[in-house]
Amino acid sequence: MIPQRVIPPQLRRKAIRVLFVCLGNICRSPAADGIMHSLVAEHGVAELWTIDSAGIGGWHVGDLPDKRMRVHAIRRGYDLTHHARQVRELDFDNFDLIIGMDANNIRDLRRLAPTVEAMAKIHPISDWMGGIATPYDCVPDPYYGGAEGFEHVLTLLEDALNRLLRDWQEA
Ligand code: 4NP
Repeated sequence: MIPQRVIPPQLRRKAIRVLFVCLGNICRSPAADGIMHSLVAEHGVAELWTIDSAGIGGWHVGDLPDKRMRVHAIRRGYDLTHHARQVRELDFDNFDLIIGMDANNIRDLRRLAPTVEAMAKIHPISDWMGGIATPYDCVPDPYYGGAEGFEHVLTLLEDALNRLLRDWQEA
């Protein structure tokens, strides 16, 4: 069950472009990017999905995802090969949904959005996080923590992205 429909009807079951955003673009959003690529391939709808990720900050531009994130991801079958880049104004034209991992990402994206229409594309990942059944309202930053934080990111993302796919699939 999807707690609420977020994806507008005109984008459901049709070509859709999704940008995942976190702070550094080396942990959470490249993991979301990799998991979503895998999910749409599994469901045979990869040709309808354009998926990318970007960071609010530019500190890691060009870098592969954090080594710890890559190790935890590959154990679940996700090979993360994205190179970090920063969010740019053009992203608000090039994507239909811009999905932030936490409240700070959402605040920063709203500051960057050039128009009201652009602002309407911004969504927190928590829109697909199981509503009242989950104690989490974001995907927490694992960067300064231990291994369990990276596992937790992957578990939260797998659940949310399955819901995102179902939101898009159901008429
Ligand atoms: P991410 O994690 O936003 O999930 O990629 C972070 C990675 C690096 C930094 C912060 C968060 N940093 O400050 O360098």
